[in-house]
Amino acid sequence: MTFAVVALPGDGVGVEVTAAAVAVLRAVAGTAGIDLVTEERLIGGRAIEETGGPLPDDTLSACRTADAVLLGAVGGPRWDHLSGGQRCEAGLLGLRAGLGVFANLRPVRPHPRLVGLTALRPGAVAGVDLVVVRELTGGAYFARPKRRDALRAVDTIVYTRDEVERVARVAFSLASQRRGRLTSVDKANVLATSELWRETVSSIALEFPAVTLEHALVDSFAMRLVQRPRDIDVVVTENLFGDILSDEAGVLVGSLGLLPSASLGAGGPGLYEPVHGSAPEIAGMDCANPYGAILSVALMLRHSLQRPDLGAAVEAAVDACIDDGVLTADLGGTTGTAAVGEAVVAALAAGARVTAEVGS
Ligand code: IPM
Ligand code: MG
Repeated sequence: MTFAVVALPGDGVGVEVTAAAVAVLRAVAGTAGIDLVTEERLIGGRAIEETGGPLPDDTLSACRTADAVLLGAVGGPRWDHLSGGQRCEAGLLGLRAGLGVFANLRPVRPHPRLVGLTALRPGAVAGVDLVVVRELTGGAYFARPKRRDALRAVDTIVYTRDEVERVARVAFSLASQRRGRLTSVDKANVLATSELWRETVSSIALEFPAVTLEHALVDSFAMRLVQRPRDIDVVVTENLFGDILSDEAGVLVGSLGLLPSASLGAGGPGLYEPVHGSAPEIAGMDCANPYGAILSVALMLRHSLQRPDLGAAVEAAVDACIDDGVLTADLGGTTGTAAVGEAVVAALAAGARVTAEVGS
């Protein structure tokens, strides 16, 4: 079968981590007999330089017809003076909206070897296994009016019942395949959109009797996330809260560079990207951590290719490399970005050999 992937390396370290992740994807496709077709397109700052805008039409149309999209990161100081729709970030938001990927899954599972890296007590993070499901195409990021002049600026938060229902269903269904616990995070004591959010999530709970739902206010939940993270299974929350809480969750794994994400819509291609940004200060130095991008490939294999076995193989290869001390600078090591990619490819091959031997 053919599996068509559009790679959008973007800016800064996005270029390096995407190259490492594509190398891993190619290796998996090679061993699994998948006819992988990849093409590269422009997004973000490089797209602004070459086409005048952060999301060229041909990028969006290529992504729409692909099976999956792999994105590095966008943005950098060269484009920071731009505002609103001209910014690199607007390209990313346009892509998310254009693909209709409303549910952003951000799994957080600290590797046992790395628990010492977190700013928290290692005992507090050992055994953490949670997923943040962030609503991705609504709320403050997209709602209108949104404008500013020198003296006044307006952002708006809008959520419709439909928007909340569809992301809630994704989160409930995920929780039902995991430990059966869902925490919906809002600010229902202040925001009207959160009142609707809470009411709607509660109504969807009736469709998932095996899942235990609790509601939490975002301020106190932000504390719980670092105080008692082991008690958390699946979290569902609106776009802005999800953005903030998922970076906070980066503290649990020791480095933001380790976190992958999958953004899914109703059918259509999924969008896969590491949670970290373009880190311009270390761009081009072959020292960025590509594990977040590589683990995003694992999510792609699970959700877009529907091959959880291959996703698990990539995750096992990453775990094996971390066990072996294949660590980038942010993880206290000295391995370069490309070398991490090569190590994961080698670990995959070794894993495949072991599986073949066990099977024979
Ligand atoms: C993320 C990023 C983006 C967001 C930025 C780059 C627009 O922080 O994916 O979490 O806020 O969604
Ligand atoms: Mg963010």
